[in-house]
Amino acid sequence: MGKIKTIGVLTSGGDAPGMNAAIRAVTRAGICNGFNIKGIYRGFDGLINDEVKPFTTENVSGIIMQGGTILKTARSKEFMTPEGRQKAYETLVKEEIDALVVIGGNGSLTGARDFASEFDFCCIGLPGTIDNDLYGTDSTIGYDTTMNTIVECVDRIRDTAQSHERIFFVEVMGRDAGFLAQNSAIASGAEAAIIPEDSTDVDQLARFMERGIRKSKKSCIVIVSESPKCGALYYAERVRNEFPNYDVRVSILGHLQRGGRPSAHDRILASRTGVGAIEAIMQGQRNVMIGVRNNEVVYVPFSDAIRTDKPLDMKLIKVLDELSI
Ligand code: F6P
Repeated sequence: MGKIKTIGVLTSGGDAPGMNAAIRAVTRAGICNGFNIKGIYRGFDGLINDEVKPFTTENVSGIIMQGGTILKTARSKEFMTPEGRQKAYETLVKEEIDALVVIGGNGSLTGARDFASEFDFCCIGLPGTIDNDLYGTDSTIGYDTTMNTIVECVDRIRDTAQSHERIFFVEVMGRDAGFLAQNSAIASGAEAAIIPEDSTDVDQLARFMERGIRKSKKSCIVIVSESPKCGALYYAERVRNEFPNYDVRVSILGHLQRGGRPSAHDRILASRTGVGAIEAIMQGQRNVMIGVRNNEVVYVPFSDAIRTDKPLDMKLIKVLDELSI
């Protein structure tokens, strides 16, 4: 492996607020330390199709406050095939890119890990996902902004829920992880959260209803983690059938959770991990995700970062339960 001169940067998977701050940090820290930087558009698809452009500091001016990603993003099906990854490698050779910084979530870092080992290529990951489901980092870029967006939405829903004395089921994103649901429920003063991690009690709805929430409150809000089978619509239907006197409504927040200006926390996390990515490359690190744990920048091997069991602190369930009486 020769000396690294040029670093490519791409965003992949679902966009997350703060990705632009991360692109800016990688670009500026890279240039500051003598590297050439190339922006790769549309994630791994852009790598396959050679959508590559040299970046200067001007390319990343005025983007730290913007949501989305200026590099665009994609969930590349082609990159999942050996042929697609071979084409991606050929682009890297043609563009004389010696190291790749991938900003994305679980699927994207899995792709980066496989590619890195297949082609013995230096890949560095940044945790870019609203889901907060990457192991080894306290938070992921986009998670804090999305949490604040959800809380703002729930505050608004609370007004109408109270006025009509209704039960609202509010569905939030998170894929297979309940971080957004559990913590936004605490932050918005919701009466309950239904999350995938709470497997000790299979029927979370029954547990919630048994607490007799309507004895002390006329309206309530239940935050539900998205799920193909048991989302907010499923629980609302059950309450309609089992408690016909209750007035039930559903609000699925959807993609509005992914947009908007990144919070200060996400901008700082993106800036620190972006600078950390360049430092890692200079130290000869490869195939690690840059995270922040206990306020320290850390290197997390890809295989650890993408573990499916990032634990949600189960004490949070007690916090919500005790505060929602
Ligand atoms: O991974 C981020 C995320 O927003 C998940 O929370 C959600 O399940 C998924 O992406 C939605 O993906 P898409 O935008 O492709 O519908």
